[in-house]
Amino acid sequence: MAVATRIEEIRKEIDGLAQSSASAQDLMRGMVKLLHERMLKYNWVGFYMLEPGAQPPMLVLGAFEGAMTPHTRIPLNEGICGAAASSGQTVVVDDVNKDPRYLACSLETKSEIVVPVFVKGKVVGELDIDSHFPAAFTSEHQELVQYCAALVGKTLEKPS
Ligand code: SME
Repeated sequence: MAVATRIEEIRKEIDGLAQSSASAQDLMRGMVKLLHERMLKYNWVGFYMLEPGAQPPMLVLGAFEGAMTPHTRIPLNEGICGAAASSGQTVVVDDVNKDPRYLACSLETKSEIVVPVFVKGKVVGELDIDSHFPAAFTSEHQELVQYCAALVGKTLEKPS
């Protein structure tokens, strides 16, 4: 199956999940599970959320699927995660071993994508995905992950 078709299929499943989720927390839990199970090169999938009111700001591990990571709390000046949250930009790293910012989660990780989640224009967290394959996050994958992060932002914006 072509990558574009497969990604479109996953996007529809994610839409279904958003409709059936009772809360943003539910959506995040379901989303990491779905992406980890259905996208074979997404070997670790998780959210880091900014701790409310923390000074200095701190990213805290939220829903995730994959092996437990030593990095449960990440300050904004550390890691690919810190770079994405502090810049408000998607960060894609094709070879993590060549990026001095990288904080290792698993020795098998070769590439990574981190996409910020926004609520009312402000970064509140991010979706982080690691792959055991180099350069796994091509532009089609970036679009999918950005779509997922935006959906979570929209859900968090809704009054509960
Ligand atoms: N690699 C991340 C740390 C989180 S683990 O990948 C789960 C980073 O460099 O910020």
